[in-house]
Amino acid sequence: MCPGLWQRRFFWSWGLLLWFSVGIAGDTPPTQQPKCKGFQNANLLRGTSLKVQFLLFTPSDPSCGKLVEESSDLQNSGFNVTLGTKLIIHGFRVLGTKPSWVEKLIAALLRAADANVIAVDWVYGSTAIYSSAVENVVELALHISRFLSELLLLGVSKSSIHIIGVSLGAHVGGMVGHFYKGQLGWITGLDPAGPEYTRASLEDRLDPGDALFVEAIHTDTDNWGIRIPVGHVDYFVNGGQDQPGCPTFFHGGYSYLICDHMRAVYLYISALENLCPLMAFPCASYKAFLAGHCLDCFNPFLLSCPRIGLVEQGGVKIEPLPKEVRVYLQTTSRAPYCVHHSLVEFYLQEPRNKDTNIEVTFFSSNATSSVKITIPRRKLHGRGILAHPNRQCEIHQVNLKYQASHRIWRKDRTTIVGKFCTAPLPVNDNKKMVCLPEAVNLQADVTVCRDLNITCV
Ligand SMILES: *[C@@H]1O[C@H](CO)[C@@H](O)[C@H](O)[C@H]1NC(C)=O
Ligand SMILES: *[C@@H]1O[C@H](CO)[C@@H](O)[C@H](O)[C@H]1NC(C)=O
Ligand SMILES: *[C@@H]1O[C@H](CO)[C@@H](O)[C@H](O)[C@H]1NC(C)=O
Repeated sequence: MCPGLWQRRFFWSWGLLLWFSVGIAGDTPPTQQPKCKGFQNANLLRGTSLKVQFLLFTPSDPSCGKLVEESSDLQNSGFNVTLGTKLIIHGFRVLGTKPSWVEKLIAALLRAADANVIAVDWVYGSTAIYSSAVENVVELALHISRFLSELLLLGVSKSSIHIIGVSLGAHVGGMVGHFYKGQLGWITGLDPAGPEYTRASLEDRLDPGDALFVEAIHTDTDNWGIRIPVGHVDYFVNGGQDQPGCPTFFHGGYSYLICDHMRAVYLYISALENLCPLMAFPCASYKAFLAGHCLDCFNPFLLSCPRIGLVEQGGVKIEPLPKEVRVYLQTTSRAPYCVHHSLVEFYLQEPRNKDTNIEVTFFSSNATSSVKITIPRRKLHGRGILAHPNRQCEIHQVNLKYQASHRIWRKDRTTIVGKFCTAPLPVNDNKKMVCLPEAVNLQADVTVCRDLNITCV
């Protein structure tokens, strides 16, 4: 019983495109109660000056934004000094509209944490052309710093402040942190902007000196996002450049342009829902990670692997925090995005004179995923990383297929014999390694199925 590959990725890209179009069309302001305040709407002609609004959302009234400008407003609006404060800063807004994700992010933050959530609305200064938005960054950062000083006067501690900045907003957050000499608690950069920032000085861009803990989630390093590490921990999701489910060729429209870039935001929202772990692994490069060279987080994190979400310091518990650590993870194409990474290995009984490619496929009841491992010529061992949405104990079947290099060369149509083993990441010792009980014979281009029976712990 060997089911075919029924999962088709392009299917999701159309779904996502449709969803984005709906998202953009849905940017109209919701019906509001009199006291609740929404984002401003700047059109291209008017959007030049900086009209900043601070909107407070609290656990007791999560869908109602209250305009807060002075400390008296804060006290009257349900701001709770003893709770942490989360500040959301959006980025460049090409059309001067409210960010379509902001309500989802606010709601997810309030569900995940007992905190004050403040959305910084600077749509007026963020629209028109990208470079004019960049020119507004310093003034905006000063504005936000003045606002934070009001919070500090009320008795809020610097370390309880967490800035979540999207794209250009990540660098705004970095500058605010710089004004506070790195004493703010936490900055999360969601695909920090790349254009005009890759070669910027540390004062101008987000960097690990800007807060006690700085993390960045990179999803579009070849386009709108920055490709250099800017935090203590830098997540390069699917390598950081291109995201599954995002169109890779131009079929028009805004969704193509921002799909990879916005994935950081949706990934973060999903992580806040805390459905499954978005765990990442330090490695020199994504290629090295995929080749199975980085299987745990010992160097440099000693104890635990960082994960995206609201766990303090991403779960990294070492002092002092290392800086600019690149960590890698794969995801699926849609929420909740998580995969479980497995090391897959094949040991040949005899070395061969050419590279040996074996496709490994894992089946659970509702998902299938594959990876190709290569055993280099004259070597006995090849390995790779297989990403599957389900845990290993939910994988019931593994398929192995030896891929002959040239179909026409009959000489190549030999049978190879070897052993298959797998272990979930992080692999800290060999205890979790599971091997098929017997060696398998693989004929060229013939799929061999085996049951996997791993008990859940
Ligand atoms: C502030 O939050 C704390 C912790 O949740 C709670 O015990 C306290 O009652 C809150 N204060 C106000 C004024 O709501
Ligand atoms: C697979 O199905 C199970 C229930 O049958 C569900 O709990 C799980 O979320 C599904 N996984 C995926 C990746 O769809
Ligand atoms: C799976 O393994 C468990 C424990 O080793 C065993 O009790 C069970 O019968 C096995 N199931 C199958 C389908 O092989």
